[in-house]
Amino acid sequence: MAERKNQPRPGGGPRGRGVEKPKDAVGTFKRLILYFKDYYVTIIISLICVAVASLANVASNYFLKPIINEAIMPFIGKQNPDLTKLASILITMVFIYAAGTIASYFQSRLLGDMAANIQEKIRVQVFDHMQTLPLKYYDTHSIGDMMSRYTNDIGTLRQMLSQALPQLLSSVITFVGVFFTMIMLSWKLMIIVIILLIFTAFILRIITKHSVSFFIKQQRITGDVNGYIQEMIDGQKVIKVFNHEKTAINDFDDLNADLTHSAASAQILGGVMWPFTGNIAYLQYAIIAMIGAGMVIDGTMDVGTIGSFLQYSRSVSQPLNMITMQASTILNALAGAERIFALLDEPEEIDEGTVTLVNVCYNEKGEPEETEERTEMWGWKEHLDDGTVKIIPLKGDVRFDHVTFSYEEGHPVLNDISLYAKPGQKIAFVGSTGAGKTTITNLINRFYDVQEGKITYDGFDVKDIKKDDLRHSLSMVLQDTHLFTGTVMDNIRYGRLDATDDECIEAAKLANAHFFISHLPEGYQTMITGDGDNLSQGQRQLLAIARAAVADPPVLILDEATSSIDTRTERLIELGMDSLMHGRTVFVIAHRLSTVRNSNAIMVLEHGTIIERGDHDSLLADKGRYYQLYTGMFELS
Ligand SMILES: Nc1ncnc2c1ncn2[C@@H]1O[C@H](COP(=O)(O)OP(=O)(O)O)[C@@H](O)[C@H]1O
Ligand SMILES: [Mg+2]
Repeated sequence: MAERKNQPRPGGGPRGRGVEKPKDAVGTFKRLILYFKDYYVTIIISLICVAVASLANVASNYFLKPIINEAIMPFIGKQNPDLTKLASILITMVFIYAAGTIASYFQSRLLGDMAANIQEKIRVQVFDHMQTLPLKYYDTHSIGDMMSRYTNDIGTLRQMLSQALPQLLSSVITFVGVFFTMIMLSWKLMIIVIILLIFTAFILRIITKHSVSFFIKQQRITGDVNGYIQEMIDGQKVIKVFNHEKTAINDFDDLNADLTHSAASAQILGGVMWPFTGNIAYLQYAIIAMIGAGMVIDGTMDVGTIGSFLQYSRSVSQPLNMITMQASTILNALAGAERIFALLDEPEEIDEGTVTLVNVCYNEKGEPEETEERTEMWGWKEHLDDGTVKIIPLKGDVRFDHVTFSYEEGHPVLNDISLYAKPGQKIAFVGSTGAGKTTITNLINRFYDVQEGKITYDGFDVKDIKKDDLRHSLSMVLQDTHLFTGTVMDNIRYGRLDATDDECIEAAKLANAHFFISHLPEGYQTMITGDGDNLSQGQRQLLAIARAAVADPPVLILDEATSSIDTRTERLIELGMDSLMHGRTVFVIAHRLSTVRNSNAIMVLEHGTIIERGDHDSLLADKGRYYQLYTGMFELS
């Protein structure tokens, strides 16, 4: 999977579609068959329909022989010819045609339904599985690549199931049927047909060899052009800011000229190829007709046979072409299926945690007990070896014990980090961009797992806590806020789905978002579109904070959450948050040192190492990096 990312495919544009070879076609097909489990009856009926339709098609040409030999020839030049024979043959033909048509209808109907259902099933499976993948997967796979699972691969697969496979079967049956009927009609003429077919195939091979490279080039450049357009649409603002419109147009012109050239070459060759094959077919026809006519004159063949034979000779190569075409669709689809299965085989986020988060209340003895009610008090439920459970109140005590971590092996991002945050403390991280601040928070909620050392939460290793519950007990305001399509209210409620409207508004007030929301055209019912394009960066951050506030968590992580908010508003938010977070643990990452001043402990991070720690006053007294930052002697980059 990972190596796909390295394929040059600018801007995630559509992949050039030549014939792709699946790595393990048989294995993939076997796995695909598992999806047919509920459709055996459908498939058997469809196969019968395919066979009936193909044979009806083959049979219909055969009737030319009895029509000419038995219903026309005997009556040539006769007065009052007896037309009953002709009528009965024609009626039989009508029935056969009708049977063929009905069979094709049912086949395409049944297989179409089946393919759509299987497509739905796979799409749901892929989407569900994607939700379970660790973030690491998303780091190493581009959005375009993942999207193409849905847009290309699943679509091609459906096409294969509903069209290519039945057509392949039909072509094979038709070919075999036509072939043997022709031998039956005249094996001598058939030998000539076979020689002509081989000759045609040989010439076609030469032509295709040359044209294929142009087609592949055309597809590749089409991909480049599309990718370029997509990139230019995405980056329109930047292009305008830097006055790069001219360059963009020139680059596009170059690409376009390339495309035109290769498209023209491909078209010209294509234009030669089709008339050529058409003409060869006519030539073939004429040769057979001539030889056949000679045989009729000799008396070694009757007129009906040659009539029928000629009819077949025109259609014998068609199923062959179809077979090659369907085979390439099937190979493409299998390659796509392989990618889908590879995604489905990606290991899920591991969750071996058994400690869960529960609501608690306190009994008369003052001991915590699990309860179904929403008591605003939480506890960890630990299953002990002796089968009993132990409830420990949730406090929000987070400790790092010699933690070392790297996203990619060999490039450590955090080195030997040890720190503790006692319940109710506010811990701040400051340091240059890329120092590892966000990474620390990513480890607390197990977006990633540490390689060395351990992180404990209220004494439990975070690996022993059920992931959902761990994340439930933490609220994060991420550095890059993401809003979903929906109303402002929906977006706040995303923090806790059972929050009432009043609770959401209350949270918005705490986050100081209420004021601007009230001034939106439809207040809390204003629709947010395209990740909040209709809001300012600061307003989006306010909403993200409100979302965290409504979750009402014991531990809150704010990652540069107020970087785009003016200092006065930030101060107000801070007051609101302080009252909300009273007695709870807060991790803040902030650029503005004024924001972190009142923290219990400030960690100064540099290249993944804590170089200084302490509260504001002691750090100032140390006259180290923090002092330099604070007095403006050292600027944060
Ligand atoms: N998902 C990731 N994959 C690989 N490297 C990453 C990833 N996220 C961050 N990094 C790298 O880790 C280092 C620390 O990043 P980060 O914790 O985001 O810094 P900060 O938040 O202090 O600006 C940087 O060098 C960054 O390039
Ligand atoms: Mg960061």
